[in-house]
Amino acid sequence: MSALYRIDSVHLHQFVQAIWRHAGSTADEARLVADHLVAANLAGHDSHGVGMIPSYMTSLAQGHLQLNQRPEIVKDVGAVLTLNARNGFGQVAAYEAMEHGIARARNFGIAAVGLHHSHHIGRIGHWAEQCAQAGFVSFHFVNVEGDPMVAPFGGSDRRFGTNPFCAIFPRHGHKPLLLDFATSGIAFGKTRVAWNKGVEVTPGYLIDHQGNATTDPGVMQQPPYGSLLPFGLHKGYALATMCEILGGALSGGRTTHQATLQTSADAIFNCMTTIIVNPHAFDAPAMHQEAEAFIDWVKQSPQSGDEPIQVPGEWEEANRRARQEQGIPLDANSWQQICHAALQAGMSADELDAFRAQTSSS
Ligand SMILES: NC(=O)c1ccc[n+]([C@@H]2O[C@H](COP(=O)([O-])OP(=O)(O)OC[C@H]3O[C@@H](n4cnc5c(N)ncnc54)[C@H](O)[C@@H]3O)[C@@H](O)[C@H]2O)c1
Repeated sequence: MSALYRIDSVHLHQFVQAIWRHAGSTADEARLVADHLVAANLAGHDSHGVGMIPSYMTSLAQGHLQLNQRPEIVKDVGAVLTLNARNGFGQVAAYEAMEHGIARARNFGIAAVGLHHSHHIGRIGHWAEQCAQAGFVSFHFVNVEGDPMVAPFGGSDRRFGTNPFCAIFPRHGHKPLLLDFATSGIAFGKTRVAWNKGVEVTPGYLIDHQGNATTDPGVMQQPPYGSLLPFGLHKGYALATMCEILGGALSGGRTTHQATLQTSADAIFNCMTTIIVNPHAFDAPAMHQEAEAFIDWVKQSPQSGDEPIQVPGEWEEANRRARQEQGIPLDANSWQQICHAALQAGMSADELDAFRAQTSSS
């Protein structure tokens, strides 16, 4: 396994901002991108953190990712908005889409936002957390336009993306309940992280190009390509299908089929349909007591192994606490690729060395 670096999150945030400023982003765009990527690492989702920078840089060089775009409202019927992100940074488009949706949910009690043609929107939990911070419940259906990686239940080759589903419920006095996962057994980025670390993937998540089970993350990184499998057999596949249709078609975007296949693995475009609901619009005065009673009840189940029972969202919160204190771990391959991307963006070797001098390896 390659060496591990520990990087302070504040320092990493400054580095990421500097990279995108050099690439040509406005200060606001560079900040939003850094906010999102570093927060994904802090939450423990390294697959959607700063390790995405080399891919974004390639997408920019290939003319897919467009810098300094603002999402455009293409239809506005009050509680329902449709936005075209115009191939801009998803970290900007999704942030602004949520801000619009939150404002409408304040007015109407509920809002739906369709966001299409957005470059990668990363960790979906970040957008749900934005809604929860404003006091709202939210649901997010996401597809990946024309970037097949996952085989359908009963199939043997890649037909659709890792289509995440996400939902959040804000709690009193605790971090929100947060469900946020790919509908594939593992996110694609986790195969990239495993590949970079030189480790195998747990059995049951991958098939090779002939449809045979494998634990080699290389089948997702180099041809002949294999596929990820959906989680939960037919159930995960069915949820992935709804994410494709509700996220891709209903939002005004595209679904994955022959006519929408991307030519580059770095051209990652997401569509997302988000429902934002004001919990206080319901006649549910005992809502929080009921939620907490359920959580207490579930946690009283006798533990079956070494791990304590957690509720969705606790895993991310535990990572945040640990990583804020100990720094963000990055394997040497990922760190080298990010440093290379910084040079590609136009950072000088001296500036890069100054950032590098502040990282420690173990
Ligand atoms: N933008 C995209 O195209 C795209 C595509 C796929 C995935 N993603 C993102 O990738 C990230 C990783 O996805 P993943 O599928 O690897 O997630 P994962 O398998 O790590 O699952 C994460 C979810 O499981 C919960 N969880 C973890 N341990 C738990 C436990 N012991 N008890 C209860 N709940 C627990 C977490 O709180 C979280 O809700 C997500 O943030 C997702 O949004 C994005």
